[in-house]
Amino acid sequence: MISEEQKIEQPLDPKMIGLRPGLEGVPVAHSAICEIDGTKGELRYRGYPINELATQSSFLETTYLLIWGDLPSPQQLKDFEQEVQMHRRVSFRVRDMMKCFPATGHPMDALQSSAASLGLFYSRRAIDNPQYVYDAVVRLIAKIPTMVAAFQLIRKGQDPIQPRDDLAYSANFLYMLTEREPDPLSARIFDRCLILHAEHSLNASTFSARVTASTLTDPYAVVASAVGTLAGPLHGGANEDVIKMLKEIGRPEKASSYLDKAIANKQKIMGFGHREYRVKDPRASILQDLAEELFARFGKDEMYDVAKTLEKEAEGRLGQKGIYPNVDFYSGLVYQKLGIPRDLFTPIFAISRVAGWLAHWREQLGANRIFRPSQIYTGAKSRKWMQADERMSP
Ligand code: ACO
Repeated sequence: MISEEQKIEQPLDPKMIGLRPGLEGVPVAHSAICEIDGTKGELRYRGYPINELATQSSFLETTYLLIWGDLPSPQQLKDFEQEVQMHRRVSFRVRDMMKCFPATGHPMDALQSSAASLGLFYSRRAIDNPQYVYDAVVRLIAKIPTMVAAFQLIRKGQDPIQPRDDLAYSANFLYMLTEREPDPLSARIFDRCLILHAEHSLNASTFSARVTASTLTDPYAVVASAVGTLAGPLHGGANEDVIKMLKEIGRPEKASSYLDKAIANKQKIMGFGHREYRVKDPRASILQDLAEELFARFGKDEMYDVAKTLEKEAEGRLGQKGIYPNVDFYSGLVYQKLGIPRDLFTPIFAISRVAGWLAHWREQLGANRIFRPSQIYTGAKSRKWMQADERMSP
């Protein structure tokens, strides 16, 4: 039994005391990396519209742009691509460590642990040394895909395969994952998916990266903390749940009753809604086009009609609240068509988002102040110590 003295006070009404749950609308950094107009549905990286990047650029070029601020010259891009290619391999020690992970574990947990382990090999915390920063960027961009692909083979009881130097970034990842060289269309579409997921301002995982960066720890810890944050179903993990939901709905004609039931039960529709957008996420529209491109070439996924009907039906029910498909709604259908297992969707998101996290890491270090928000204490004021035999069992 809890005495009056011990009773925990109820939290006060946040609006009355200036508390902003989820930090909604609270600026915590100046940033020149990514701009979102949530009412127009516009997204730009370093001033370049996402549509243009997704059609004209490559993932490594976009990564360079995000992290270093400007598009690379042809020579800078060539050098960067070569450096990344040279650092794709991971130490046998990391691979051996991954072999000890349970095969039933989620690949995001495997990735978080492996990313953190890189700090054991390369940690010098020389973050004020430009060469250390460059090397860390190259290593993380190069090795994260290798680790995702390695865990996929290891959990199937196979040895990871080595990267192939003749293959570009995305083609090489698909090769390491599936043990088959992908056709050029699949590799290009995958590369475009990476561009779309590379950065999105101060979302939960990027905020996590900046908080960790603000302690001046090493970049491997920064990325590992962000991977852990991305894993949750309200963030990157939603793309897995979208496919589960579409399968549960099963047929287009069932979308309407599914929505009615979910809304009545106050259940979130996965892949819908976004703190920043009041219209359809521009990335969702591009991903939908990419899905259609793949279906035209390799045959349609029957779940696509379910998704389209769900989107149409949801507009009448959720549109007035500004809830439309987000980036996670169509990405799973693209990855599924590329033959990627469902629980790798979020690790693939991470492969891409490392670019944004590292851009924010550099920006944070450029004007650092350790994050240390305040709280409004709602616990007991002062309590008298009780010996164990004086305490009542619940
Ligand atoms: N389905 C149904 N209703 C929704 C949805 C949804 N997906 N999202 C928000 N709403 C409703 C809420 O029920 C709430 O309604 P109410 O005001 O009548 O109570 C209102 O919209 C506001 O919802 P919040 O959860 O407060 O909105 P918030 O901005 O905090 O959440 C979030 C954004 C977490 C993305 C939310 O929309 C959600 O949970 N979506 C589903 C999960 C998802 O797809 N996540 C991926 C986001 S993209 C990314 O992280 C990469």
